[in-house]
Amino acid sequence: LTRDALHGRGTKSVIVMGGGIAGMTAAYELLKGGYSVTVLEGRDRPGGRNWTVRRGTTFTDLKGQTQTAGFSKGQYMNAGPGRIPQMHVTLDYCKELGVPIEVFTNQNADAFLYRENVPGALNGVPVRHRAVKADAYGYTAELLAKATSQGALDAELTAEDKDALISYLRSFGAINSANEYVGGGRRGYAPEPGAHLEAGTPLPQYELSDLFRSTLGNYFSFEMGFDQAMMMYQPIGGMDRIAYAFAEAIGARRFRYNAEVVAYQNTTDGVAVTYTTANGPKTVTADFAINAMPPHIAAKIPSNMPAGVVAALGSVSRTNAGKIGIEYNRRWWEEDFRIYGGITNANTNIGNMWHPSYGYHGKTGTMIGYYNTGANANFYGALTPAQRLTEAVAQGKKIFGDVYGEGITASFSQDWASAKFSEAAWVSWPGAVGGQTGAGYRSLLQASGNIYFAGDHLSHAIAWQHGAITSARATVEQIHERVTA
Ligand code: PHE
Repeated sequence: LTRDALHGRGTKSVIVMGGGIAGMTAAYELLKGGYSVTVLEGRDRPGGRNWTVRRGTTFTDLKGQTQTAGFSKGQYMNAGPGRIPQMHVTLDYCKELGVPIEVFTNQNADAFLYRENVPGALNGVPVRHRAVKADAYGYTAELLAKATSQGALDAELTAEDKDALISYLRSFGAINSANEYVGGGRRGYAPEPGAHLEAGTPLPQYELSDLFRSTLGNYFSFEMGFDQAMMMYQPIGGMDRIAYAFAEAIGARRFRYNAEVVAYQNTTDGVAVTYTTANGPKTVTADFAINAMPPHIAAKIPSNMPAGVVAALGSVSRTNAGKIGIEYNRRWWEEDFRIYGGITNANTNIGNMWHPSYGYHGKTGTMIGYYNTGANANFYGALTPAQRLTEAVAQGKKIFGDVYGEGITASFSQDWASAKFSEAAWVSWPGAVGGQTGAGYRSLLQASGNIYFAGDHLSHAIAWQHGAITSARATVEQIHERVTA
């Protein structure tokens, strides 16, 4: 044993295929352990799907369409990940790497919800989140309190429990002592409470039938999601601050950009990986490799992996996602609607709009005009960037009116399915939804010879940087245990 090995430090070399968050986490942690590391990245930048588009960013998609972002200085859009829950290890890396963070507003009572092609009077009506929520909670409380007090739940509840439940429902739904929901200030006022004798007039509640049939109330499950509940965070200045901080910590001399892996092999005592360079293909060797590429990309690259492993990589289903950033010459959502960050959600093809969680009161601002997935993302992906903007503006006007089309100074759209090296936003595994249990999935959790795998797809936090990071850490542990065994 060498002295380093006796002290638990790795003396082996590792090639990391893919400089996304998983690959960079693996490289960073291996370097801490004393390994020698080379990262091969196909793009000309670190981060993979962690990508921030700013003034001057140029991108050509797989269809050959090129966009150059014309955002003004300080404006940006996170084309990939945009929000980080508090419990995710991603925040620990922000702390360790010195990436400052700020709040990402994932829930705003004053943002809008919009549903069309639904029955009832709320069809096609933009409504404030707080108004829908107050009514949905209010009517639910009213019905349950009445059922309870009328004896419908006597088989379930003791008299004491009934009293406790009704007490809870009065608070939850703001119902009166007759167990009736009659609206109230939590849903909003016009005029609002003000000086002297201005007590404010609560806006009238929506009808129960309109409210429930609109499906608007179904939105509130989102804000209770384990990984979507506030508080949430973003790096100040763009999500790619994390990618660049990792790259800097790893060191430029260990990074090869524009290095597209075209073949990889187990050899008798290590690995050989071939990648593109400006002067033609080059092959490097090492003791181990970590394949941190998206599985459906890795599956296409010639290798001597066992057929079952290649089949497992290729067995994933891809999910697309799309985003458009639209810069306006004034922050009309703040000035006209008093919306400071947060999400407006629609059941139209735009899906979600993000009001920016940075740059408040600034001269200009950049809305995410759509963040959608699946069929809606594919619909926008099939359009040209100019057509995407036209469609997004037409949809946005339904919610915000003509102002949505006024004062647009720049836009940039991303379709992850047509992005080289990604070809999807994220993946899922065959079988039960979210069930990362199958033999194919399991086969990628251990080394195939000297080659390991890492990525969010090998975690229970798919489509989160947390998944990429935790998977990479697990892989690094496996290598280190093997080396020091
Ligand atoms: N992490 C991504 C997001 O927050 C994708 C995702 C959405 C993952 C919803 C899980 C649940 O938008």
